[in-house]
Amino acid sequence: MISSTLESVLEGLVKKATDTLYPSANLPPPEVVPAKDPSFGDYQCNSAMKWAKQLGISPREVATAIVEHLHIDEESQKVLDRVEVAGPGFINMKFRASYLAERIGALYEHDEIIPKTPSPKRVIVDFSSPNIAKEMHVGHLRSTIIGDCLSRIFEALGHKVLRLNHVGDWGTAFGMLIAHIQSLPGFSFEQVKTYTLSDLMRLYKESKVRFDADPLFRKTAQQEVVRLQGGDSSSLFIWRIICDISRKAYSEIYDLLDVKVEERGESFYNPMLPKIIEELEEKKFLVNSEGAKCMFLRGFTNREGNPLPLMLQKSDGGYNYDTTDMAALAQRIREEKADRIIYVTDSGQATHFQMIFEAANEAGILNPNTTRVDHVPFGLVLGPDGKKFKTRSGETERLIDLLQTAISRADTMLRARNPDWTEEEYKQIAHTLGIGAVKYADLSSHRVSDYMFSYDRMLRFEGNTAAFIMYSYVRCASILRKVTLAPKKDVHITLQHPSEILLAKVICQLPTTIEEVVESLLPNRLTDYLYSLAEAFNAFFRDCRVEGDIREQERAVLVFLTGEVLKTGLHLLGIRTPTKM
Ligand code: ARG
Repeated sequence: MISSTLESVLEGLVKKATDTLYPSANLPPPEVVPAKDPSFGDYQCNSAMKWAKQLGISPREVATAIVEHLHIDEESQKVLDRVEVAGPGFINMKFRASYLAERIGALYEHDEIIPKTPSPKRVIVDFSSPNIAKEMHVGHLRSTIIGDCLSRIFEALGHKVLRLNHVGDWGTAFGMLIAHIQSLPGFSFEQVKTYTLSDLMRLYKESKVRFDADPLFRKTAQQEVVRLQGGDSSSLFIWRIICDISRKAYSEIYDLLDVKVEERGESFYNPMLPKIIEELEEKKFLVNSEGAKCMFLRGFTNREGNPLPLMLQKSDGGYNYDTTDMAALAQRIREEKADRIIYVTDSGQATHFQMIFEAANEAGILNPNTTRVDHVPFGLVLGPDGKKFKTRSGETERLIDLLQTAISRADTMLRARNPDWTEEEYKQIAHTLGIGAVKYADLSSHRVSDYMFSYDRMLRFEGNTAAFIMYSYVRCASILRKVTLAPKKDVHITLQHPSEILLAKVICQLPTTIEEVVESLLPNRLTDYLYSLAEAFNAFFRDCRVEGDIREQERAVLVFLTGEVLKTGLHLLGIRTPTKM
C-alpha cells in the first residue's frame, strides 16, 4: 500500500467507478495529475473528456456520474475528503487527512523509504568517460554527477546496475602521442613514468602541431598506430603508462566526488570491431562512400541537406568512435543482457547517439521492445559572464581545482557561521557542503539547459540549494534528539494542522517523484521535490510545536520521516548529510 503512488490510488478509485458505470465500454485507464490550483483540491482527473467522446455523452455527464459513484463508494469515502466536478468535466479530489495519516503510519512502521521493484532489470549507465592523456573538463564533471545520480536511483530501486566509464583510451591520437614521446631526447620508459597528466596534455598538443606540420612525423605516427593496434610490446607499454597516469588523476576526482565507476574504455571493444563490420557487411547494410564503409539512415542530413552517413570504417581501413559505439552496444545487449542502456554526455553528441541507435535498430542488433536505450544529453556549464566556463588564464579550469575551491569556500562560510566547531568538524562538513553544493547546483538545473556556475549561488543557505536541504535535515535531527517518537508497532497517527497535513502529503509524494526521474531521467525532478519537502517542513516547524506538545510523539514521526526522506533524497543525488550546519 505504501509503495503505490498517490496518483495510482486515485486512478484505482476512478477506474473502479468507470468499470461499474460503463462495464462494457472498454475505456482507456484514467490519468490523475496534481491539481493545477491547490484550492481545487490535491489532484485532478481530466480523463472524462476523452471518455465522453467514446461513450457519446457529454464530459460533464460522465464526470458527474463518476463523482456520484465515488461519493457512495466505501473505499473512496475512506480516501477522499472532497470530490467534485469542475468546468466542462474535470474531477477534483482532495485527500482525507486520516488517509494520509494512515499512510504515514504505515511508512513509519515498515521503514521502507524507497520500495524495491518487483522486477529488477539489468541497467547499464555509461557516464563520466573522459579521454586518456587529457584533463577531465566540466562536461565530464556533469556527466559524472548526473550518471552517478541516475545509477544511485536505479540501484536504490533494486535494479542491477553496471556503471561504465567508457574512457577514450584508443585510436589514432595515441599513435601520435606515443611517436612523439619516443622521439624526445633522453626518452626512456622510466622517464615516461614520471610524467603528470599536465605533461601528457602538453606533449599531446606538441604532437598535434608536429602531426599537422611535418609529413615525416605524420608517417611515423601512423606507423605507430599500426604497431599499437598490432600489439607491439613497447608501444603497448607506453600506452599503459599513459593510461595509468590519467587514471590516477581521474581517481582523485572520483574519490573527492564519492563516485564509483568501472573503467571499460574504448580499447576493450577493439577486438570486436572487425566482427561488427563483418556482420553489417554480411547483412548488406554498409555502403561504400569514397572508400569508407557507411550506413545511410533515413532522416539524417547534414547542414546542406545532403544525407549524413554513419561512417563505420574509414577509407584507410581504420575504425573510429562510431565503430566502437556500435560494437559496445552489441556487446552490452548480447553479452551483458542489458534491459536498459543509458548514455550520459553533452548535447553535442545527440546526433551521434541517435544514429547509433537507429543503425543498430535497422541492423537488428537492437530491439527497442526488449532493450530501452536513452541518450541523456546535458547543456553547457557557463561562467559568470554567460560564456563557456573557463578560468582567467583562458584554459579550461582543472576540475580538481574547481572542487577544491568549492570546499574551501564552504569552509570559510562555515567558520563565519559557527566559530566554535572543532577543526575536524570544519574539515568534514566543508567537504560535505562544498561537494554537495557543486552536485546540487548541477542536478537542480534542468539537465538540457546550460547552467551558470557560481560558487556564491550554490553555497547559499536559502532557496533551492544543497545547504538549505542539508540545513532542514540537521534541523530534523536536532528536534529528534529532544523528543520521544511514537512506538513503531500499532502506531496511530493523526494529522490536524494544515501544515501537518501538507507535510504528510509531500512525504507521500516521494514514490511519484522517483517514478518520474526513472522515466524522464531528469534529476531536477528530485531536487524540486526535496526543495518542496524542505519548505513544507519549515512551514510545519514554524506552525507546529513538537517538543512538549500533547501530540509530541505523533509529530515526531513526521519529523523523523521528513529527515529520512531528505537523507535518502540527498543520498540519491550523491550528497552526504552533515551532522551540523
Ligand atoms: N569520451 C567521450 C567524450 O569525452 C565520451 C564517451 C561517451 N560514451 C560513449 N559510449 N560514447 O566526449
